[in-house]
Parts: sequence; structure tokens; C-alpha cells
Amino acid sequence: MTSRPETSGKLPLTDLADMKRRRERIVMVTAYDYPSGSLADAAGVDIVLVGDSAAMTVLGYESTVPASMDEMVMLTRAAVRGAKRPLVVADMPFGSFQVSDEEAVRSAVRFVKEAGADAVKVEGAGPTVSRVLALVGAGIPVMGHIGLTPQSATMLGGFRAQGRTSARARQLLEDARTLEQAGCFSLVLEAVPAAVAARITEDLTIPTIGIGSGRDCDGQVLVYHDLLGLYQGKKPRFVKRYAELATEIRDAIERYAADVRSGAFPGDEHTYSIPDEELAAFLSGSKAESETEA
Ligand code: KIV
Repeated sequence: MTSRPETSGKLPLTDLADMKRRRERIVMVTAYDYPSGSLADAAGVDIVLVGDSAAMTVLGYESTVPASMDEMVMLTRAAVRGAKRPLVVADMPFGSFQVSDEEAVRSAVRFVKEAGADAVKVEGAGPTVSRVLALVGAGIPVMGHIGLTPQSATMLGGFRAQGRTSARARQLLEDARTLEQAGCFSLVLEAVPAAVAARITEDLTIPTIGIGSGRDCDGQVLVYHDLLGLYQGKKPRFVKRYAELATEIRDAIERYAADVRSGAFPGDEHTYSIPDEELAAFLSGSKAESETEA
């Protein structure tokens, strides 16, 4: 990653469209707490997504579907404390926007007011378009998400690439245009064939952020735990690991446990002392005390 120039303060949302025009690639990564938010900030990323992938990566659910608003608000609040410069986008969990426009606005307002998010992300097109209109109408910036949308993976036939027939690819292009017209400031394209993502990217004025959608998207996103090798579930084809932290962490904990069991930890350097005369007085005093008690 070419690092961005040192600037203080929050990245303005409008800079993203300028970056697209300048063909400057946008870097997005997920984060779910204070340490991941602040590390992403220190690494100079442009956008932090508090993805509902948190359901699997940090909360231990089997899919993203069970993530609740309360859980997502708490995680977003922590990530916001760490990510000062990047835009923080909160992912609207399943059930928080599907029922009605009003419910969508109520949920998004929580992310902005209670958690301090800069924007929200919603999955899908079709009925989601009306939600986008309502959210943008309420003054909340919205990132769209089409292609493989994990919240509706069952309806899509599982976790598989989308838009692999000309009809499905045309539908994706139509959905992308509709979401742009509805006011999305950016669009995630997940598991879309690279050539289809390139065509959509060329067609839109808002930036596309790809995950498993090739290098011609305006930016890329990876899940924090995938890129760092922290998530031990199935690794999708589109993930590139930049570290193997799960192995390192497990190894460190095993060495700690062995040191505790052998008595090698804590050493003198991890231990506080007391002056000899204070210790002598303490020991004789406490002895006298226990003799009196007996
Ligand atoms: O939840 C998430 O992390 C996401 C990204 C994979 C785009 O939606």
C-alpha cells in the first residue's frame, strides 16, 4: 500500500469520489474494537468497516445473521474510539433494516448518535433501494453492498460468486446504477467476476470497493481476521493472508502456560520488592498478631 499523506482529522467523505477520479485506490479494512480501529488508523487505511462479519470473527456465531443491533453498536463505538482519521462505516445487521424504511432510519440513527459512526452499509438492492432513499433523506451517508450478500446467502444458493451469467451480470449493473441514483456514496462488490466488476466500476461515478471482485474496483476491503490469519474458519479464495497471528498467539499462550507451570514466570524482573526492615517488621508483627489471636 502506498501510504497516504499525513493529515490530521477525519477523511472527508467527498474525498472518496475525488480518489476515484484520480484513480487513487481506496483501502478499507474491517475492525471491531479499539485496538483494531487504532491499528487500522495507524496503518493509514481510508475506511474502517465495522462489518457484521463480527458475528463470526469476534462473537463466535456460525453466520452473520445473528448479529444484533446492540452488539453492533457496542463494537462500532469501540472501533470509533480507535479509528480517528478513517471514515467509520457501521454495517446494518440482518433484521435492522429489512422490515421498513422507518426501522432502517431508527437503526442507522443509533449507529450515528450512540456509536459515532460516519456512515452505514446496507446489503442488497430491490427493497433496499427504498431504505437507501430514506437513510440518505435522513442525512445518513450509505454504502451499498451487492453481489454475494452474506445476510441472504441462503437465497443466493450459498457462499458463491454472483453475476456469472450475462443476465445476472446485467442485473448487478442495473442494481449498481439504482443504488447510485438512490444516493449511495460507495458500493461494495463482493464475489463478482473481475470483468463484471470492472464494467460496473467504469459505469458508476461513486467508488466501488471490491472483495473477491478483481483489481479494477476503485478500492479493496478485507476482513481484519482474514488478512491477519486470526480467523480459523474456512478461508475464501479471495482472501490473502498477510500474517499468521492465530499461530503466533496460540504459541505465545502455550509458552506462557508452560512458564507458569514450571515456575519460570514470574521472574524477579516481574516482581515488586519491599525493604528488608519493613519486611522484618511485617513478618514479626503478623506473627505476633496470629499468636495473640490463637
Ligand atoms: O461484514 C463484512 O465484513 C462485510 C465485508 C466483507 C464487505 O460486509
